[in-house]
Amino acid sequence: MKRLPAHIAAMEEKALLFAVFFLFLSTSAVAIRPERSLVAVARRAALENGLGRTPQMGWNSWNHFGCNINETIIQQTADAMVDTGLAKLGYDYINIDDCWAAYDRDSQGNLIANPSTFPSGIKALADYVHGKGLKLGVYGDAGSRTCSNEMPGSLGYEEQDAKTFASWGVDYLKYDNCNDEGLSPQPRYINMSKALQSCGRKIFFSLCEWGVDDPAKWAGSVGNSWRTTGDIQDNWESMTAIADSNDKWASYAGPGGWNDPDMLEVGNGGMTTEEYRSHFSIWALAKAPLLIGCDIRSLSNDTKVILSNVNVIAVNQDELGVQGHKAQQGDQEVWAGPLTGGRVAVVLWNRGSAEASITAYWSSIGLNESTVVDAHNLWTDEITSSVKGQLNETVDTHACKMYVLTPK
Ligand SMILES: *[C@@H]1O[C@H](CO)[C@@H](O)[C@H](O)[C@H]1NC(C)=O
Ligand SMILES: *[C@@H]1O[C@H](CO)[C@@H](O)[C@H](O)[C@H]1NC(C)=O
Ligand SMILES: *[C@@H]1O[C@H](CO)[C@@H](O)[C@H](O)[C@H]1NC(C)=O
Ligand SMILES: *[C@@H]1O[C@H](CO)[C@@H](O)[C@H](O)[C@H]1NC(C)=O
Ligand SMILES: *[C@@H]1O[C@H](CO)[C@@H](O)[C@H](O)[C@H]1NC(C)=O
Repeated sequence: MKRLPAHIAAMEEKALLFAVFFLFLSTSAVAIRPERSLVAVARRAALENGLGRTPQMGWNSWNHFGCNINETIIQQTADAMVDTGLAKLGYDYINIDDCWAAYDRDSQGNLIANPSTFPSGIKALADYVHGKGLKLGVYGDAGSRTCSNEMPGSLGYEEQDAKTFASWGVDYLKYDNCNDEGLSPQPRYINMSKALQSCGRKIFFSLCEWGVDDPAKWAGSVGNSWRTTGDIQDNWESMTAIADSNDKWASYAGPGGWNDPDMLEVGNGGMTTEEYRSHFSIWALAKAPLLIGCDIRSLSNDTKVILSNVNVIAVNQDELGVQGHKAQQGDQEVWAGPLTGGRVAVVLWNRGSAEASITAYWSSIGLNESTVVDAHNLWTDEITSSVKGQLNETVDTHACKMYVLTPK
């Protein structure tokens, strides 16, 4: 697969027509779908806050803790991110989800931290997290109250809240969609996007409107990632359904703006190790945010091995930024996507209930029939040299095998 020319990212709108034409010429011979190039280039001219050039990595409190959070847990999580070595691998956002603020605003209308669970305040927590070389995220809502109803929403307070976040040193905002007062998502999210862009601090904007208004089609100019689905649950059925729903938006993702199929459940206990390995592999291939959702203060070895696989993380963070997609259907699936240097990432995913053989054909994964590759198995770290035409392997039920194919 061809790599996008580096100058495309900075291209002015007047050059778009030329770029689109050029990209069409340069990619029409290979398996990339032309509309992907059109959308990626059009979108890149839009939001340029410099953030999210690769999918965001870090941790979020919701999947494990829900509302049962406090500043001690957040600090200990920042400590653990560094002590486990996960920070060094790129997991740098520590994101607090719902329930960090007091029930009411103060007399000036400002959001304030919940005095019983975050007594030191969010600025102190941001300072602590920054002191570890990490970044702090908070959560808000594009409605009158957040989804827990425990804290105020930001509808009508966008500029004031964005300034508050900036004054605290917040680096990331996840923005939920509850209590919408009957207003459609797009204008509510655009208003917060504008407020963040003029608040004086670079804040990553993570839209969480659950895919209700097809945000892939419009959020590229509004934020750095957008949820494409409802909330993930810690089970196989939910995880696979979400992977499938997210897949249809693949062509809209690219550097600066990513589809978000929700945070990782790896390590929370509701799936087997092989199911979690599949979950992590597919999220990495689909250029999804890698936001850990378990308690990293007590990681099991299996969980740590999955979350720490540098080969798999490198696929997610590859600077070409093209979302891999489902290339062969059925219970024995093949997912694939291009990487820099003409390489191709492939996941053989057995969604059936028994061990099965899976074959990825070069014709469906964007390689020339005659291309000979070295196949790097990212989970065993073994390399098979000189593979040609197809790759077939036996895969356990609900397991996957993931490769990077490097043409010789
Ligand atoms: C946070 O919660 C933990 C466990 O629930 C508790 O041990 C700790 O004292 C709490 N800290 C604060 C500041 O509430
Ligand atoms: C967005 O902001 C504008 C300007 O402040 C305001 O007039 C409009 O009502 C806001 N829209 C929504 C949906 O909040
Ligand atoms: C977990 O891994 C560590 C380090 O590799 C090892 O010492 C320990 O025995 C392992 N624990 C279990 C339960 O496998
Ligand atoms: C595929 O390989 C053949 C033989 O090397 C070559 O002639 C052809 O141009 C290649 N096609 C593409 C699309 O690279
Ligand atoms: C690969 O596919 C061929 C032909 O379908 C089959 O004979 C062979 O057993 C397969 N190998 C593996 C490892 O599945």
